[in-house]
Amino acid sequence: MARPAGPAAAALTGLVFRQLFEKESSTYTYLLGDEASKEAILIDPVVETAERDAKLAEDLGLKIIYGINTHCHADHVTGTGKLKQLVPGMKSVIAEKSGAKADMFINDGDVLKFGQHKLEVRATPGHTDGCVSYVLNDGVMCFTGDAVLIRGCGRTDFQQGSAARLYDAVHSKIFTLPDKCIIYPAHDYKGLMNSTVLEEKTLNPRLTKNKEEFIEIMNNLGLPYPKQIDRALPLNLVDGQVA
Ligand SMILES: *[C@@H]1O[C@H](CO)[C@@H](O)[C@H](O)[C@H]1NC(C)=O
Ligand SMILES: [Fe+2]
Repeated sequence: MARPAGPAAAALTGLVFRQLFEKESSTYTYLLGDEASKEAILIDPVVETAERDAKLAEDLGLKIIYGINTHCHADHVTGTGKLKQLVPGMKSVIAEKSGAKADMFINDGDVLKFGQHKLEVRATPGHTDGCVSYVLNDGVMCFTGDAVLIRGCGRTDFQQGSAARLYDAVHSKIFTLPDKCIIYPAHDYKGLMNSTVLEEKTLNPRLTKNKEEFIEIMNNLGLPYPKQIDRALPLNLVDGQVA
C-alpha cells in the first residue's frame, strides 16, 4: 500500500493491515494489528472464513483481542462466535443498539485501543438502527460497514432501516472525515476494494443527491429478499453461536 506522507504516515507506523474476502456474501473482513504489542482487532469476520482469519493472525504473531461487527448482518453469519472458540480471550463487540448479544457493547464516541492504535466508534444508523463505523487513528481509514459502500450504500428496507437516518448519519459522521480518509466497506460486489471520503462525497450516485431525492431512490430500489437472511439474522442475534 502506498505510504502517505505527513500525519497519515505517522498514524500508519507500526500498523499491520489486511483486507480479507469471503466470496459467498462478498464480505470484506479486516485485520488490524499493532506491531509492537501484537494486539489486533478483526472487523466483520464471517463464520465460513473464521478459521482462515484465526490462522492468519497466528501466522503474523498477532493476538486478536476484539472481534467486532459493524452491525447485525442479514447476509452472512458473523464469525465472532466461532472465533471465540478459536482465539482464547477474544471478546466479541457490537453496538448496544443492535440488540444482538456480544461480550462487549459499544456506543457512539467509544474508543477501542489495540497497542498504540485506536478505533473510534461513530454511530451511522439507517441501514440498521445499530450500524456503526470505526475510524482508525483520527481519520486515516474508516470501516463503514454497510452505511457507505463504494458508489452505493446499504439498503434501508428491513431491520429498522431508514433512508432519512442513513443520509443524515453519512453526511454528519462520514463525509466530515478528511477527504483522504480511506473508506473500507463491509462489501463490494464489483471487486472495488476501497474508496475515499472525497470519492464518495463527489461520485456516490445516491449520496451526492439531496435528502429528498435520496429517500425517493432508496424507497424504490425493488431489491429481492436477501438470500441468507432467514439463517443469518437469528444466529447473528446470538453472536453467531452455532450451538
Ligand atoms: C485500494 O484498492 C486498490 C484496488 O482497487 C488497491 O490497488 C490499493 O492497494 C488499495 N489501497 C489501499 C490503501 O488499500
Ligand atoms: Fe448489512
